[in-house]
Amino acid sequence: MKILAIESSCDETCAAVVEDGRKIHSNVVASQIETHALYGGVVPEIASRAHSEAISWVTKKALDDAGIALSDIDAIAVTNEPGLIGALLVGVNFAKSLAYGADKPLIPVHHIRGHIAANYAYFNGEEEKDFLEPPFVALVVSGGHTSLVDVRSYTDFEVIGATRDDAAGESFDKIARMIGLPYPGGAKMDGAAKNGNPKAFAFPDTRVKNCPYDFSFSGLKTSAVNIIHNAQQKGENIDCADMSASFTSAVVGAIIQRVELLFSDTERKTPEKLVLAGGVAANSHLRAALEKLCKKHNIKFFVPPLSLCGDNAVMIGCQAYYEYTQNKDKDFRDLSLNAYATGEISK
Ligand code: KG4
Ligand code: ZN
Repeated sequence: MKILAIESSCDETCAAVVEDGRKIHSNVVASQIETHALYGGVVPEIASRAHSEAISWVTKKALDDAGIALSDIDAIAVTNEPGLIGALLVGVNFAKSLAYGADKPLIPVHHIRGHIAANYAYFNGEEEKDFLEPPFVALVVSGGHTSLVDVRSYTDFEVIGATRDDAAGESFDKIARMIGLPYPGGAKMDGAAKNGNPKAFAFPDTRVKNCPYDFSFSGLKTSAVNIIHNAQQKGENIDCADMSASFTSAVVGAIIQRVELLFSDTERKTPEKLVLAGGVAANSHLRAALEKLCKKHNIKFFVPPLSLCGDNAVMIGCQAYYEYTQNKDKDFRDLSLNAYATGEISK
């Protein structure tokens, strides 16, 4: 089954063709980063307009790269939640028109379910990697989400813990910006951290009382902001590499603490597999720390290739296949489909 997938929930216009939830035939990503960098963050109105401009050629390119005509596609998939509402609406309306015009099923996909499903994908011509199947625990770390999710089946999800305030990616971007790294600062902070001292600055404990699997990054963020402001008031410079290394170490440490707790929780069945997903899955320090932790606990660790960590439509095409094949009673011809800024992964 070949699915044409569309993703436009934030600042990347994406289309892809994916076969049977796994095999990538094409993957097109039109990034708006340069536009938003001028403002230090994503400007929603500009994002919607940029999606409108790009979506037709991005989709055409995805079909051309795959060497497939629209008439030979079996279904159209689209991210319809969560994300920036104006941005989502561009993709949803475009996908609805395509599905209507080409008389194809229309499969709505939750963005975070998609991020997790990026771990199923493999490139056409590449050896199929370790065949990942649920059940597993997914650690989702992105610009807008940080959560531990019990993935019981391809379409049955339960949140074990989630952030109470900021997401890890959001806090990386904020502190990166304050130490002079351009938007989006997460990846640049990852690089800068390699040359700094992770113990140069100390950060507070992030545990959430009575909710051991919930995350909280606002305290870390405020603490870093205070350190930077105090230095500025004294006319001192904060060393970018040292702050990057220390802040990264605090964020990664907070995440690892929850995962390690989960691995040793005697009231829960220890997962056999841990799956990392989301834009921050590209972080080299987080990947290395999780790899080491999983090795120690004899748990299999999965992480997407770097090109599939950030937003892309391959992940939407992968998850769409399972949404379609495992929900036999659902109406996939519903052209009244809407977009939603928020939306639970477990429903
Ligand atoms: O998943 P994603 O593309 O968008 C959302 O669904 O939110 O994640 C984007 C986030 C941004 O905050 C970006 O700074 C962060 O992922 N990110 C990184 C790295 N690469 C991207 N954060 C830390 N280290 C990286 N290497
Ligand atoms: Zn995302």
